Parts: sequence; structure tokens; C-alpha cells
Amino acid sequence: MPARPKAFEFPFSGVAMGCDYNPEQWDPDVWREDVALMREARVGFVTLGVFSWALLEPTEDEYDFAWFDEVLGLLHEGGIAVDLATATASPPPWLTKAHPEILPVDAEGRTLWPGSRQSWCPSSPVFREHALQLVGEMARRYGSHPAVRMWHVSNELGCHIVRCYCDESAAAFRRWLTGRYGAIANLNEAWGTAFWSQRYSSFDEVLPPRLTPSFSNPTHELDFSRFSSEALLDYYRAERTVLRTLTPDLPVTTNLMVNPRQSGQDYFRWAPELDLVAQDHYLDARLPRPRAEQAFSDDLTRGVAGGKPWMLMESATSAVNWQPVNPAKKPGELLLDSLRHVARGADTVGFFQWRASKAGAEKYHSALVPHAGPDSARFREVAALGDALLKIGEVAGSPVEADVALLVDWESWWACDLGSHPSCQVRAMDAALRWHRAVTELGATADVVHPSADLSGYRLVVVPTLYLCTDAAAEALEAYVRGGGHVLVTYFSGIVDERDHVRLGGYPGAFRELLGVRTEEFAPLRAGETVTLDDGSTADVWTEVLEARDAEVIARYTDGPLPGTPALTRRAVGDGVAWYLATWLDDDATAALAERLTREAGVSRLDAPQPGLEVVRRGRYLFVLNRGDQAATVPARGTDLLSGDVLDGEVEVAAGTAAVVRTED
Ligand code: GAL
Repeated sequence: MPARPKAFEFPFSGVAMGCDYNPEQWDPDVWREDVALMREARVGFVTLGVFSWALLEPTEDEYDFAWFDEVLGLLHEGGIAVDLATATASPPPWLTKAHPEILPVDAEGRTLWPGSRQSWCPSSPVFREHALQLVGEMARRYGSHPAVRMWHVSNELGCHIVRCYCDESAAAFRRWLTGRYGAIANLNEAWGTAFWSQRYSSFDEVLPPRLTPSFSNPTHELDFSRFSSEALLDYYRAERTVLRTLTPDLPVTTNLMVNPRQSGQDYFRWAPELDLVAQDHYLDARLPRPRAEQAFSDDLTRGVAGGKPWMLMESATSAVNWQPVNPAKKPGELLLDSLRHVARGADTVGFFQWRASKAGAEKYHSALVPHAGPDSARFREVAALGDALLKIGEVAGSPVEADVALLVDWESWWACDLGSHPSCQVRAMDAALRWHRAVTELGATADVVHPSADLSGYRLVVVPTLYLCTDAAAEALEAYVRGGGHVLVTYFSGIVDERDHVRLGGYPGAFRELLGVRTEEFAPLRAGETVTLDDGSTADVWTEVLEARDAEVIARYTDGPLPGTPALTRRAVGDGVAWYLATWLDDDATAALAERLTREAGVSRLDAPQPGLEVVRRGRYLFVLNRGDQAATVPARGTDLLSGDVLDGEVEVAAGTAAVVRTED
């Protein structure tokens, strides 16, 4: 289906605060209190009905909309706009009982039974038929309701079921492969089935990559990842078709999970199908630096959205409940975490959920109204956030300015993280995160974009472990450098083509000429093994037998398996510069190299960065977020929208606080 010709206005004004609202858990008198409290907290929108199927259609073809009508009416009276879910996220028990064939199956052949949520196979025609019928009912009944501003298809498609291996999915996979390859000979060539006796004589013989005795064919795996992303997208399109037919004036989206922890869907392919990009982000306390990961995810979401503002649909006011230990947010963190999303392009700040459940699987997940009720520090902090977002409403629509681009690609991610590689310590997103953080800590801003993005506006492009790379992307990078761009390529990049076939003649195949280097063999390091470079820095994970054929050697190993071998090279190309980093530098050495690269490339950044200080510019607005433990002073002239202070040259931001400056220059 072609992308929608219509361009939609952002459905909410200012920077609206919102939340998932699951009123079916509460008595109607609570709904009235809810709306009053929402007004008090300045809630601008709610997402309604995400998990309401079992109550909206209690038995097959019999609907109970009365309670939903009442809720929508109350919200409308209260001036709260609605992002209306199609209510199809989780099938009701009557449906899974009547049609157990809709249940998903994992790679080991185990059925994922009902009893939690979202137990359905994306390729199931039976599920689709029932879901689309409900979508039609919802659209006919509520499509012209004055509170409803947009459609929210399903919920986090692929959150629990990214890949289904059932027989229905197997048949859909074969149809998809037939469309991709046309003839089985083409599949055999692409998958390299001459090896290990895997040659297929017809598409009928192909299965999903179910549990196998040893490594399954990597291109088979890669294609199954492509197919699985596409199967979910196809399901999204099916709901969207119903909605567009019945309510052509309402924008349609679904909430994505753009982050470096979940590789399920290729969101660069998804975004053009959404009328606006909506994103859910939860801090993961298991990570060493959860907020650096948040900043990366935000910048990637903006990349997915093609630079346009996006909706933060869900986040948490405090703790989640799905990690082994779920830390609460400290006072002040809610504001800073929310402003971080806005600084990086979000035009809404949404949360899961309005009122903390008293029963059910998410009863210990934070909410806007906690178990303690509105007389609580958390609710007061939420209301203060609502006020702050009102104050900065004029920021909405402003573009984020970035001098640096980081190239990432889901296909490369899928291929890189497969097994049977030189080192399981090389993970696609690790280098992207590390380089993003290094650049961010200097007070620069990076767009995280697809390799096919227009690079011409960037001063520095980082290519972090872009394992799989097309010829077109390699050519575009070379043209960018020749035209004056600065690029850093890190190890295990450009190794294979889009079929996951090694580019022969020496690594890193796609970038060998551009970088002026050639590697004959990889020499990965064992876990815990480190090497030292002649500039004093240390590194681990990776080394390789690198020859600098036409490049200046900036640093060499002094020990490890390859003493004297180049680790970091630099080559002047046309009007630009191409760097190659063949190892995993430690944090300090990464920071030092980022400092040098950003200076040489003329990247806009802070002269005096300090720990915990983030600075991002959105058009004429400067966000200064200080989560460090020292006050920070940043050059700025204008008005701080949060404090109202007029700034005559600099803004001082106390530790743990923020400023959003409407600048005059
Ligand atoms: C999201 C989901 C919400 C809620 C939330 C909890 O993945 O969309 O329904 O479960 O996580 O963090």
C-alpha cells in the first residue's frame, strides 16, 4: 500500500502530557475523580481502550459500549483529548478458547497460552478477521467523537511476540520468500545452501528457523527477521486500512519500542506507514547508564521519524515492575527524564498509566496517581511536570539540530548479533551506544539515522559496527567524505552484503578503499583480555591483522596478540577525512578520540563539558539538563521558559535541574 498522501497536523497543541487510561479497573465514581485530577495535573490526552477488548465484546459479536461511551463523555467534558486504541492488543478468552490456532508458537514448538496478554500470531487470518471486525465497530462508533484525535493501533506490536514459528507463520514466510526470490534457485544462492546440504528444491520445503541441532543458516535467520518485522507491519496496515476507510481524517499510529535493547522490528521501514511516530521508552535499571540509553533511543526515534517531532506515548513516572529490582525515581528525575525526551524531539510526554492498579500483573508499576492517592509527593511532582510542559509549549514543532550522524540499521543489527561469529562479545548496538554517549557528553547532538540518510548536513558521521552494508551505502559514505565530511568507521563494519555474504579480498570489504586499510584476519580478544596502544590507551574485545596501505597510523598496539599492528588510522580523502578504529577503546580513550574528531570536524559542542550536563538545541530553544552534582553555566541569551529568568549571556543551572531557553541569537 502506498504511504498516505495526506499530511496530518500534530493532534495535540503545545507539549501535551498524557497517559494510558484503563478505567475498566475502577468504579464509575472513580472516573469522575480521575477527570478532575487529570485537569489538576494538566493532562492533555489519554490513550484509551488498549486492553478493553474483553469488556467491549464480552461474547462473540455482542458489544457493550455503554461504559466506554460514558468514559469518553466524561473525558470530553473535562477537556481531555483521546488517543483512541483499537482495543485489539489482547484477544479475549472466548476467542482463544474457540480458536486456539491463533496462539503463537516459539522456536521450540511451545504454544504461548492465554493468561497474560497479547497471545496471538501476527499471521493468523482468524485473529485478523476478529480484530478487524472490532476495529470497524470502534471506528464507526467513535470515529467522529469530538474527544477523539487519533487512532492507536493495537499496542507495541511485537512487544511480546516478535517472531511466531507456528504452521500459519511458516506458510506466510514461504509466501513472503516466494515474493522476495521468485525462483527457489535465487533463495539457494542468497542463503548459501550449497553448504551443509541445505539445498531446497521448492519453497514448500522451507520452514521458519525452528530449534536446530547446530547453528541455523544465517541468511535464513536474517530473512526470518525481515519477514517477522514485515508480518507485524502487515497486520498494522490491515487495521489502518479499516480506519482510513471509515475515518479518513484521523491520523493513525501505533506505539513503537525504539531502543537498542529490542531488535524486533525494522522501524525505518515502519515509520513511513505511520501518520506520526509514537514511541514508548522505559529506563532500564539493569544497564550501566540508563539515561545515556534513553538519549540514544530518543535520537534514534527522531531518526526513525525522519527528523520530525514524535510522540512519547509511554514512559514511567517512577519505577516499572518488570525488572528484577525496580528502583524508584529520585525527586527531580521525572522532570529531567521527561525534558530529555522533549529536548530530543518529543512533542508529547506520555506515561503508562494514569492510576496505579490495585490488582493484576502491573499493580507495582508506577503511575500518575500512585496507590497512596493524589496526596503524595509523586502526584505533586506529576502536576509540577504538567505545569512545566505548559510553560515550554511553544517548543513544539521545532527541529532538533545535530552536527553528528550515527548510522544504524536493523538489518545489520540482526545479522551482526547472530551466532557463529568471530566473537560473541561484538554486539551491533554496543559501539553505537558508546559513540553516542561520547559525543553527547561533549555537549554535541547526534542524529541516529539509516545508512541511506542524506549525510550532507553533518560535520561528522560515525559508522559503529555496521556489519552489513549495501554497496549504495558505502558509495554514499565515500561521496560524503570526498565532499569534505569527516567519518569514523569502527571495527566489524562493512563485512557482509545484504545477503550476509562476506565481501571478499580483505576486511572491512565495503570500506577498505575509503579507509585505505586491509585486514587479512580477525584476532578477537578473550573476555577480560586487554591490550595497550602506544598512545597509552587501553582496549579490549577486538583486534585484527590490519595493514595501513594508504592511511596514516595514529596508534598501534604495544602488546596483545598483534604488537606493532595499527589500531587507529586516518586517511585524507578528497576534502574530507576517513578514520578507522579497529579495536574497542575504553571509555576515556573513546572520549579523547571523540574530543579530537569533533574539534577537527568543527562540530558544535560545549567548550567546557562537565559530567551529567546535556545540551540540545531545538530551533531557537536551548535545553540545558544538568543531572550532575555540580551547578553548570552555559552561554545563553534569552529567556528561561521554566523560571522566567531573562539571561544576559549565560544560564546557570543548579545540579539536578534544567533550563529551557528561548534564545535571542
Ligand atoms: C509497555 C506496555 C504497557 C505497560 C508498560 C509497563 O510495554 O505498552 O501496556 O505494560 O509497558 O512498563
